[in-house]
Amino acid sequence: MFTIKEKSLYIETYGCQMNFADSEVVASILEKEGYHLTDDSKKANLVLLNTCSIRDKAEQTVRKKLKTFNSQKKENKNLKVGLLGCMAERLKDKLLEEEKIVDLVVGPDSYKDLPNLLDEVEHNQKAVNVILSKSETYGDISPVRIHNNGINAFVSITRGCDNMCTFCVVPFTRGRERSRNPESILREINELNEKGYKEITLLGQNVDSYLWYGGGPKKDFKKASEEQKKNSKRFSNLLKMVASNFPEIRIRFSTSNPQDMTIDVIETMAEYKNICNYIHLPIQSGSDRILKKMNRLHTREEYLNLIKNIREIIPNCGISHDMITGFPTETERDHQDTLSLMEEVKYDFGYMFAYSERPGTYAARNFKDDISPETKQRRLEEIITVQQKLSFERNKRFLNNECSVLIDKSSKKSNEFWSGRTSENNVVVFPKYNFSLGDIVDVKVESFTTATLIGDINKVKV
Ligand code: SAH
Ligand code: F3S
Repeated sequence: MFTIKEKSLYIETYGCQMNFADSEVVASILEKEGYHLTDDSKKANLVLLNTCSIRDKAEQTVRKKLKTFNSQKKENKNLKVGLLGCMAERLKDKLLEEEKIVDLVVGPDSYKDLPNLLDEVEHNQKAVNVILSKSETYGDISPVRIHNNGINAFVSITRGCDNMCTFCVVPFTRGRERSRNPESILREINELNEKGYKEITLLGQNVDSYLWYGGGPKKDFKKASEEQKKNSKRFSNLLKMVASNFPEIRIRFSTSNPQDMTIDVIETMAEYKNICNYIHLPIQSGSDRILKKMNRLHTREEYLNLIKNIREIIPNCGISHDMITGFPTETERDHQDTLSLMEEVKYDFGYMFAYSERPGTYAARNFKDDISPETKQRRLEEIITVQQKLSFERNKRFLNNECSVLIDKSSKKSNEFWSGRTSENNVVVFPKYNFSLGDIVDVKVESFTTATLIGDINKVKV
């Protein structure tokens, strides 16, 4: 019979920041079961891959990775392999048939069941739990910080998504939207503060839609009592609580959905110095026709109006986007609308993707994936080129200016340099001198690339 003699655990995480945060929850649950983490998969008896389904390529990457454990499993009969996250939820027990190496399949809302599931696995059974929850937020678990520099940490505030963008698999893999109790959020940030963390990112698929009214799915808010409604907390309330309770901590949040972002959030950002001047504001397309087909519930004009409000209230706010090329029926004209929107907004950064049809989504069921891979790719390259130009122009504006940088790692290019970020999320690299991780330093920008500002300390101050 199989017993895990030495409970050693290796977790590898794919996809979005929420998955990284979830892996830390999983590590915490399993540490309580006596597992210790290793960063060498060969030394582990339990390998967990926390997976992503957002595009087909993300799933193929995981499938390729699984193959690498075949030979390890031959050498170590005790090795068990589990798949967590969105692929687990999307494919369920089909994964056990398709990937013989997998022993365990656990969806994003079932991590508390891991100890039981591992018991089953120990008895040489395959185990699956992919039940989605209306209330689970893991608010009572203190995550083990495995993706750790001791400076930045993720704190999840909502789970799931109710938006049903027609291309997106997330509502199917992560279930209904629910918000976490603000008290447990403040408690987690307090722990991070005491440990010396300097920056936190409040995480959710759609943070601006945060709504705490005592627990339960957002869609049931209308059924809440008058008392619950009166005491409910929206995202701007939560931001204020966090910012005022932790004035020394820098606060970021991600992701904002334009349809849910309200002026009071922007005003709160302006009011508190410790909330970073940066908003990730995905739009996906610049064409109203495509936005409608995507079930994005705003127009190009409404989006541009939101950008105008942001720039009025926070003049230097960093703004980034997500964009998809080649959504079904996208014409050259629609594509031009995307390019012109990018020029109009002058985004600082962007994350750009070719449309990947996801089984089960509204788009997959109702629209033909009719844009050829070549056209998707060509349009993708065109929007990337425009974004690079915009990022370059943006960075140029920093030249010879001083900016305040929180050091969060050593520069990849040279160990003699620190790398950090400004409030607006620009990456800045500069010589280390005697500064330490976590210091906030004023750096004068002396040169730049599309992705990085390169600077030095004003000599007078050293
Ligand atoms: N609100 C979420 C969005 C998750 S998906 C968040 O917290 O970030 C991240 C991005 O992936 C989306 O904004 C979209 O640009 C892209 N994406 C989602 N589904 C996709 C698909 N089927 N094909 C290509 N890109 C997709
Ligand atoms: Fe996906 Fe749209 Fe929600 S992109 S995560 S369904 S906001």
